[in-house]
Amino acid sequence: MSPPVAALEGATKAYGDVKAVEGATISVEVGKVMGVVGPSGSGKTTLMGMLGTLLVPTSGKAYFVGEDVGGMPVPRRRELRLRRVGFVFQQLRLMQKLSVIENVRLPLVLAGGPTAAQLRRASDLVAAVGLGGKERRRPRELSVGEQQRVAVARALVNTPALVLADEPTSQLDSATGGKVLDLLEGLSREVGAAVVISTHDQKLRGRLGKVYEMRDGVLGPG
Ligand SMILES: Nc1ncnc2c1ncn2[C@@H]1O[C@H](COP(=O)(O)OP(=O)(O)OP(=O)(O)O)[C@@H](O)[C@H]1O
Ligand SMILES: [Mg+2]
Repeated sequence: MSPPVAALEGATKAYGDVKAVEGATISVEVGKVMGVVGPSGSGKTTLMGMLGTLLVPTSGKAYFVGEDVGGMPVPRRRELRLRRVGFVFQQLRLMQKLSVIENVRLPLVLAGGPTAAQLRRASDLVAAVGLGGKERRRPRELSVGEQQRVAVARALVNTPALVLADEPTSQLDSATGGKVLDLLEGLSREVGAAVVISTHDQKLRGRLGKVYEMRDGVLGPG
């Protein structure tokens, strides 16, 4: 059996006295879609940071495709993030100086220069998220929902093994949010990526497969 794409075993992330996440154990299997729900400040973003090698646990273990994240040199973690993980950040983090298509291509550029096939893929993704014709716009010239779709396209451009989408529909009404979720799930299935989605939206919760709940830094069944 192949190892999970990402896993935590009793992982705690502390900031001084605050335990943002405490003793989390979770396994993200290849090709699965799962959800993390919980109130503001409960530790969802911190949990996803540990799953995606952005954060290293203060205690306990994090694994990425079977490799111990705690023992990894920083450049190795960066390399994994660039090539294997797609992030839809809660604050989107689109580059305002870059156009839509340049934002979507950015992970390819950072990973060492896109091939012709990768450039085509970037264009195809922009079209797939419904932004064909808006490739040259700057993020600020888009609606918030459109910006969220740029972030989704960017997260998928490197055909990641793991997509971490942190409240990818937070600014959207449930219907539009449902459409962004459809895109995220459909495109992830195409590349065989596992997906973890955090959300506040109870309506979307019903659509996710396995759901975990965060409460005061503690992860439990949903
Ligand atoms: N870099 C940091 N330094 C200090 N405390 C932090 C840091 N990051 C998060 N925290 C604290 O850890 C806790 C969990 O934060 P986190 O961002 O993971 O919650 P969240 O569930 O994503 O919240 P939200 O729904 O508002 O996005 C909070 O109490 C937060 O203040
Ligand atoms: Mg958060």
